[in-house]
Amino acid sequence: MPRKKLIAANWKMYKTPAETREFFRAFLPLVAEHARDEIVVCPPFVSLPAAVEEVRGSRVGIGGQDLFWEKEGAYTGEISAGMLTAVGCTHVIIGHSERRQYFGETDDSVNRKLRCALPAGLIPIVCVGEVLQEREAGLTEEVLRRQCVGAFRTIPGEQAARITIAYEPIWAIGTGMTATPQMATEAHLIIRDEASEQLGRDIARNLRILYGGSVKPENAAGLMAQEEIDGALVGGASLKAESFAAIVRY
Ligand code: PGA
Repeated sequence: MPRKKLIAANWKMYKTPAETREFFRAFLPLVAEHARDEIVVCPPFVSLPAAVEEVRGSRVGIGGQDLFWEKEGAYTGEISAGMLTAVGCTHVIIGHSERRQYFGETDDSVNRKLRCALPAGLIPIVCVGEVLQEREAGLTEEVLRRQCVGAFRTIPGEQAARITIAYEPIWAIGTGMTATPQMATEAHLIIRDEASEQLGRDIARNLRILYGGSVKPENAAGLMAQEEIDGALVGGASLKAESFAAIVRY
């Protein structure tokens, strides 16, 4: 069975609740007939309730952009898995490179977050990817394997089947530079191989690996045509209803 593609929007720190509603009122009619792929949008925390309300009755899912690994407690500014599911989230992004770069996230914190998102019933989208210096130094494979080993540590087999990975070469995020379909395919094969080592062959075979980094309407079809690319994580181009819909319908 071919893996069903997932096209996910990462809005980052954009869109108030009112702007979120406006987006969905324009976006949903554009994808109303679209059943081929799964669609998920990840707005900022404060806009989640508005997003969940707007997509009710549609095929679009809503996800958080991050979570904290404790259930509750004195953790100022943090949001738990249970809080995300309570407002209607089905997905959550974990370990985005901007979290790693600006907020000190590590492979270890990614693992802790993953181990808390999975039992809560969320579908995690775990981000991995190399920086430009690592690619130029020939370290891409080592970095991807290290990130996967760190993320997958002690994940129970029956939960691992829900993991989704996003391969996002950091040099391609928000820069307009996109990995070629060939480069993305090579990276995805490394990730799938490491997943097979860590989680077993069957889970690795069904593991969805998305590509992220300057995905646009103009390059979506070429990327999505690759057998190894199981969808996209889209930042900048997901902020306008027309351009995200054009990516979804590539
Ligand atoms: P971009 O962001 O599409 O703007 O490059 C992708 C991401 O950071 O998830």
